[in-house]
Amino acid sequence: MPEFKIDALEAVEIWTIDGEARRNSINRDMVQELEKMLGRVSSTRDVRAVVLTGAGDKAFCAGADLKERAKMSQAEVRAFLATLRRLLRSFEASDCVFIAAINGLALGGGTEIALCCDLRVASSTAELGLTEVKLGIIPGGGGTQRLARLVGPARAKDLILTGRRVGAAEALNLGLVNRVVPLAAVVDAAVELASQITANAPLAVAAAKHAVDLGLDLNLDAGLALEHQQYEVVLKSEDRLEGLRAFLEKRAPRYQGR
Ligand code: COA
Repeated sequence: MPEFKIDALEAVEIWTIDGEARRNSINRDMVQELEKMLGRVSSTRDVRAVVLTGAGDKAFCAGADLKERAKMSQAEVRAFLATLRRLLRSFEASDCVFIAAINGLALGGGTEIALCCDLRVASSTAELGLTEVKLGIIPGGGGTQRLARLVGPARAKDLILTGRRVGAAEALNLGLVNRVVPLAAVVDAAVELASQITANAPLAVAAAKHAVDLGLDLNLDAGLALEHQQYEVVLKSEDRLEGLRAFLEKRAPRYQGR
């Protein structure tokens, strides 16, 4: 049975984790399916942004499927996490823009999925948390690394060592989410944000995403060199000339991704 419901809206797709009864927790089938979906969008230029959300009004994703996990051997957990780490990394490597529409609880791996997205829109009912230490483990899908990079080490330790959950307002204050909207509007708000992005030149959006992401671990001079490299990509593009023509002709640009 498919683990995701997919809705295609021109350049934007909505991927809904379809596991409301288990609070959209992450199982092996879901990870496999998500890998295929990521492969598909990375090999086409038609899908430029993906909004990722969870079915129902309670949870975005309640982390690892603990019922499945309870039956796994150590070796199986290790293999599962290796796949999950690779999967979450490929969100960042992709030219596609990922926006999490956090429609409720995002715990453990649920927060880790949200963290590997480019942007996060939360419902006012959302709660996020890296709650793993409460279960005798630590985040295994990149949470310790991505949260510290996003909000700084002190705030990351506050959340990770306590395992506490933060509500939408605190998450916004921490910079953990970009926007907070009412629950009924969360997917639409994420789609609207995605549409603002996909209206822009495709090569430019991808180059800007990679410039920010790859520059995070560099010193300023190396980061500026990286920005220059990414600028070279857009400098040679037809879309740059189209952007200039559209400005002079006082019309909307028609970008081709070339
Ligand atoms: N894995 C597997 N099943 C899960 C799950 C998870 N992570 N989270 C919730 N479920 C299941 C419950 O077992 C329950 O199934 P059941 O009806 O067969 O008993 C169903 O989802 C509803 O959960 P319930 O606890 O009754 O709903 P709730 O809305 O009151 O609470 C949570 C939701 C998410 C707060 C609570 O279920 C919870 O704490 N889950 C574990 C979260 C967690 O620790 N994640 C891993 C972090 S590493």
